[in-house]
Amino acid sequence: MTVINFGIVGLGRLGKIHAENLAKNVPGSCLIAACSLVEEELAFARNQLGVAKTYTTYEEMLDNPSLDAVVIASPSSFHVTQIRQGLEKGLHVFCEKPIGLTVNEIEQIIPIINLHSNQKFMLGFMRRYDTSYRYAKKMVEDGEIGEITLIRCYGIDPSSGMDSFLKFAKNGTSGGLFSDMSIHDIDLVRWFTNSEIKKVWALGNNKAYPQLDALGELETGAAMMALDNQAIAFLVAGRNAVHGYHVETELIGTKGMIRVATIPEKNLVTVYNEHGANRPVSKDFPERFKEAFIDELTEFVSCISSNRQPEITALDGLYATEVAIACKNSWLQNECIDV
Ligand code: NAI
Repeated sequence: MTVINFGIVGLGRLGKIHAENLAKNVPGSCLIAACSLVEEELAFARNQLGVAKTYTTYEEMLDNPSLDAVVIASPSSFHVTQIRQGLEKGLHVFCEKPIGLTVNEIEQIIPIINLHSNQKFMLGFMRRYDTSYRYAKKMVEDGEIGEITLIRCYGIDPSSGMDSFLKFAKNGTSGGLFSDMSIHDIDLVRWFTNSEIKKVWALGNNKAYPQLDALGELETGAAMMALDNQAIAFLVAGRNAVHGYHVETELIGTKGMIRVATIPEKNLVTVYNEHGANRPVSKDFPERFKEAFIDELTEFVSCISSNRQPEITALDGLYATEVAIACKNSWLQNECIDV
């Protein structure tokens, strides 16, 4: 098997997971370089993952002539610049969501990605690689629930993650609740319906964390969406699930319904005790999407090795961000917005 030599930029909440997967869990990948601003994270890469070279600037890492590909897991505001720099060095690029924070910067990076069509580019919408979502997608494609009429999506982070979110939000701009969190649900809506979102109406508040007002962030948001094919989508995003990490999706079709993770179960265990019969739930995104994070990078390596472009494109990133920004504007302007 050809081995793909990876570098990674960003070793924070998610970068650490990708780094560990590239070093240990993704067949055909070898993590040879890592970049972060934080010395302890670089020491982790060297000592725990055996990464040969670590860097404090992305530009220096890109000068490593042994690299074949780069994974971008830095704050979202750096993504488009780092995509361009990676492509211009001749590397394959896997970038975390969102691809960019503004429509303008994404529209500028797309022609550059297209210009490097011999290199592979993939965006990290990992839910498309989750076993349950793949199972549901196959059922939808096989026509088992008929035509989708409505999708309801919940994406609520655990309240236990608030401290780490505050650090993340202060590091750079997250893009706000809809670009940071709902973007996954927006991608699922597009993926399941094969249709585009054309109109949104969004609301939000910070009742649980009023301190988010000062950061320009939202804790709870909801959006109603109209799709080109007349289906309806309803999204809830939040950062205050006290029970754990709540990602749930419901697909209502003309012939039936599918629900994914109505209770966001950790496993098949039910605990019977003085509190009743209880199902343990996923505590955070690394736990819930552990396998999906491995499978998306395995797919990226496979695309490189077999010389085919990944299914998730920069246009998926553009459309999802356009909808997320429309949600933010709808909330700010208190009106229905055409996408
Ligand atoms: P974080 O704040 O925990 O980590 C950021 C990392 O980037 C740190 O290692 C920091 O040293 C490094 N960094 C910052 N500025 C840099 C620069 N100029 N040059 C090089 N390195 C730099 O952030 P987190 O939560 O890991 O998020 C990173 C990205 O991953 C974001 O775009 C976020 O949207 C995305 N993400 C995606 C998730 C998913 O479900 N697919 C989940 C969590 C994050």
